[in-house]
Amino acid sequence: MSYTEDNRSRYVEELKEFLRIPSISTLSENKADIRRAAEFTAAQLRQAGMGNVELIEGEGNPLVYGEWVQAPGKPTLLFYGHYDVQPPDPLNEWISPPFEPEIRGENIYARGAADDKGLTLILVKAVEALMATRGVLPVNVKFLIEGEEESGGEHISRYVASKPSRLQADAAVICDTEMFAPELPTLCIGLRGIVYGELIVKGAKQDLHSGVYGGAAPNPIMAAAEILTALKDRDGRIRIPGFYDRVRPPAPQELEAWSRLPFDEEKYRSEEMGSSALTGEPEFTLFERLWARPTLEVHGIRGGFTGEGAKTVIPAQALVKLSARLVADQRPEEAVEQIQKAVAAACPLGVTAEFRPFHCGGPSLINPDNPFIRAAADAMTEVFGKPTVYVRSGGSIPITALFDRHLGIPSVMMGFGLPDDNLHAPNEKLYLPNFYRGIDAVSLYLDIVAQG
Ligand code: BES
Ligand code: ZN
Repeated sequence: MSYTEDNRSRYVEELKEFLRIPSISTLSENKADIRRAAEFTAAQLRQAGMGNVELIEGEGNPLVYGEWVQAPGKPTLLFYGHYDVQPPDPLNEWISPPFEPEIRGENIYARGAADDKGLTLILVKAVEALMATRGVLPVNVKFLIEGEEESGGEHISRYVASKPSRLQADAAVICDTEMFAPELPTLCIGLRGIVYGELIVKGAKQDLHSGVYGGAAPNPIMAAAEILTALKDRDGRIRIPGFYDRVRPPAPQELEAWSRLPFDEEKYRSEEMGSSALTGEPEFTLFERLWARPTLEVHGIRGGFTGEGAKTVIPAQALVKLSARLVADQRPEEAVEQIQKAVAAACPLGVTAEFRPFHCGGPSLINPDNPFIRAAADAMTEVFGKPTVYVRSGGSIPITALFDRHLGIPSVMMGFGLPDDNLHAPNEKLYLPNFYRGIDAVSLYLDIVAQG
């Protein structure tokens, strides 16, 4: 038996310990848990034999750094992951509690199992295994693990912009994406960017009786609905002037490769999504809509009366959480301005409306014709026993665009999650065979990269 096989049960115990920490970055009440998760991550890096391990403090949640750079002349890889997680609600839909990891069948269930504690630990354990068996690594490795990926925090952006020489590397390696299908080794070469913010619509100076004032008073919730429908039409076309101007269409070869992916659209609709129809711009294929077109989505609306029973009120205010996903070559700052202008233009009489951005991240598109990507495809193909496919994803990992901009390096995104892992949803899970194969694939990757 190999070292990694011998150590599987310990890996799972350590993963469980990590998963028990409710490191939810968007809620201020979890600050102490965030710190515990950062400290746990640092201890993991030390145990793996990394040096100069430290928590990097600054505005926002701590970054965790560690390195092993004793392979002169060999390439340097920057390993990225995140120790923070999304909130677990709705709680009553979880079969086992979100922060009490439970193994059922071959899956481990907990918030963060796949996104991203399990996959971050793949990187750590791959390095740990090589250090434990050989005492050295075949290449240089730097770890930079953040704690506010899920909430759009900017600590890591400022750090990467300010410390390019410390982080200097030949490629970033990220395990925070999915396999296209079970057993199908997958590299992700494109991610969407994001602009997330709040639309605040204000009407009268206070809530009003809807009988006494209805017919004369502006209604901010109705106004919000009008603004939203002006921003996007029934066919899913975004009606914000200029929004599509910089959108780069995928190359014909890439579209052709997507059309050959093993995929059953009807099964995707009925089983994975469980909705009565797929929506979006009718003139584009599903993968174009998911991976190569921008979106505009509403996440929640607050305002007026939502308690039990009835209350006749015209609310004074409405608040809409909304985001746009961006594709290459859209620019987040420009998208914010375009949204703000379109909101102002659509704002009806009697209310004010303002879009306030919380956070932004650029899209990223990686050229797969790159030795670090090819080495990753070889490692995945070897471990999974099938040719590796290249896909994009509609999700965002904002730091990838900044690794490109500030460090000039590509991100190699080796995916070990599965489409049914329930990221950001109840009953998030990780398929344990992928955890083990991920560890083997990453350690093999280091050897292949070292051979050049
Ligand atoms: N790991 C995900 C992104 C992802 C999911 C990429 C699936 C590819 C496949 C990441 O942790 C995530 O969810 N990011 C947020 C970022 C945002 C809050 C800035 C996202 O995409 O919503
Ligand atoms: Zn993630």
